[in-house]
Amino acid sequence: MHDKQELFDKEGKSRGYYSSKNRVNDLTGKEWVFWTRSVITKPYPPNIGHKKRSQHGGQKPPELCRDIISVFTKENDIVLDPLMGVGGTLLGASLCNRNAVGIEINQKWIDLYHEVCHDEQISSSETICSDALSALQSMSSRTIDMIFTDVPYYRMDRARRSTGRYKKHDEEAKETPASKLSVFNEIDYESESQWLDEMEKILTAAAVMLKPDGYMAVFIGDMYYNNEYHCLSALLANRLQNRENLVWKANLIWYDVSKKLHLYGYQYSYIPSMIHQNILIFRKEISLKNGAGPVDAKTNERN
Ligand SMILES: C[S@@+](CC[C@H](N)C(=O)[O-])C[C@H]1O[C@@H](n2cnc3c(N)ncnc32)[C@H](O)[C@@H]1O
Repeated sequence: MHDKQELFDKEGKSRGYYSSKNRVNDLTGKEWVFWTRSVITKPYPPNIGHKKRSQHGGQKPPELCRDIISVFTKENDIVLDPLMGVGGTLLGASLCNRNAVGIEINQKWIDLYHEVCHDEQISSSETICSDALSALQSMSSRTIDMIFTDVPYYRMDRARRSTGRYKKHDEEAKETPASKLSVFNEIDYESESQWLDEMEKILTAAAVMLKPDGYMAVFIGDMYYNNEYHCLSALLANRLQNRENLVWKANLIWYDVSKKLHLYGYQYSYIPSMIHQNILIFRKEISLKNGAGPVDAKTNERN
């Protein structure tokens, strides 16, 4: 019995061989290997209602979301984004024939997502306008195949600057510009630790719904402020490690080719231009923790 089948793309080009033993996704071996790389450099040009979606400021490319979702789910699986914004995850799920549910506190972003679906003739996914934590608690009996989200930030642009004035050669000194992130950060967290507490609560409540052996992926950018590098990705990963049996599996780096370099601190102090985002990958590993066998991909029963 052959457990491998050659698959072809729309142009008739071979995608490689798909194994019926593949429990994680619908990729061929060749595609699987490609996506094991820890740095994503593939360009994602502005697309799928980008102009409308960019009113948000934190929107992600739907095609990048599609690619990530395709690595961690199979066709018709359900993806949950508890912090959906203007729906990068939801659009990405539609592009690869997955179902999706999105939660967003601000109705304006949900409306914009539905408008983009209408313009692009993409069928809209389920959306819930609510605070994520209360929505997740009220839907906790549902089972989700993958969680894919992108966390909001606290108002670090409000944080007191110590010596945050920089100047270019032969120019007047000026403050570093306020972050565009503040446009969609309607919720104010007083401190980094309060923000971490909230993100931990939301993501742990989402993980309750995740199927055994399911994956959670979280976009998170590290930050530079108050003259220091804040490795928010590591801080959040440490908070989530072992909550609801989540095991940290990878930190993928998305190199965002659209980001421009900023000349802060030139000739005075080294300040990085943040042109990457992290995508934290966790797996809910109940099988390893309680000694039970792996989950059967077809029946979802544990062996
Ligand atoms: C980084 S953005 C997500 C952007 C999204 N990936 C996209 O492509 O548009 C995070 C979103 O979480 C929302 N948000 C923040 N706190 C929330 C909460 N407690 N409950 C639900 N949504 C929240 C914000 O309004 C914001 O739109």
